[in-house]
Amino acid sequence: MTTFRDNLLAGKTTFVAGGTSGINLGIAKRFAELGAKVAVAGRDPDKAARAAAEIGAGAIGLSADVRDYAAIRGAMEQVADQLGPMDIVISGAAGNFLALALGMSANAFRTVVDIDLNGTFNVFRGCHDLLKRPGASLIAITAGQAVNASALQVHACAAKAGINQLIRVLALEWGPEVRVNGISPGPIADTEGMKRLAPDAETRQSHFDRIAMKRWGKIEEVAESAVFLCSPAAGYITGTILDCDGGSQVGDASRGDLARGMA
Ligand code: COA
Ligand code: NAP
Repeated sequence: MTTFRDNLLAGKTTFVAGGTSGINLGIAKRFAELGAKVAVAGRDPDKAARAAAEIGAGAIGLSADVRDYAAIRGAMEQVADQLGPMDIVISGAAGNFLALALGMSANAFRTVVDIDLNGTFNVFRGCHDLLKRPGASLIAITAGQAVNASALQVHACAAKAGINQLIRVLALEWGPEVRVNGISPGPIADTEGMKRLAPDAETRQSHFDRIAMKRWGKIEEVAESAVFLCSPAAGYITGTILDCDGGSQVGDASRGDLARGMA
């Protein structure tokens, strides 16, 4: 995909929390292709090292749990030391599994809220004085569950809804110097998230039925949305959540099918 021109992000120090696999790794790779100096972090140090090798271009892979403020702060200090003040920080670490509220312990609920919501607070709170200001750009990866309630997802719905408000509040508080936005991906093919949330054909079909564009999303398409939000083209955009979801949240896509059938 060559939507954006070469070197658009040349020299931009970029940190991706949860950037060691899936969508976030795709974002990190695309940023490196466009000239950014990239660091990624996840819990598993081997996975982080493999991700850095896959990104290439001198990328750094670090081990830090976003639930641990001191650990994630330490990782970001290391990035700022090695690569310079951070221009771009992306908070994408998440945990998820399908479970009814009554099938989940208090610790199960807390675990997902801790990774997604508290983790995003830790990443953004912890990076502020390490950012290149003015001009830095922050992105949190949220999800449609933030807006549309979904059974078996009380933990993720609550956590991602919290992230949406966190984005807006920080956009207000840091407005003059730092842009803060979110990306809400739809169902993205070949990801851990989809494996977990759509484990069988019936569930996959129910996700598919909601997509206006009638195809799964690609990791590369979410990456291009992130590039846009960090580029000068989005220079006056803050506090917004960009749905990169083929129209999954727009309305009842099955009525679109019905209407096409009638035409
Ligand atoms: N149903 C109900 N409860 C579950 C569960 C499930 N499918 N999976 C885990 N839990 C519970 C555990 O039983 C535990 O609760 P307990 O202590 O009361 O028994 C709690 O959740 C924490 O589990 P644990 O395995 O200790 O957490 P962890 O911190 O090691 O891992 C997870 C976090 C559970 C979110 C794990 O799935 C993970 O690491 N996910 C990351 C990858 C991912 O989810 N990617 C998709 C992003 S959309
Ligand atoms: P993924 O491959 O499982 O990526 C999750 C990343 O977060 C991994 O790098 C993982 O590495 C890291 N991580 C998990 N827990 C962490 C913790 N406590 N501290 C630090 N890092 C942690 O998932 P994905 O499907 O690509 O999803 C990526 C993001 O997109 C998530 O925010 C998800 O909610 C969002 N999203 C995905 C979809 C989809 O279709 N997949 C749709 C909507 C939104 P370690 O395991 O090594 O820690």
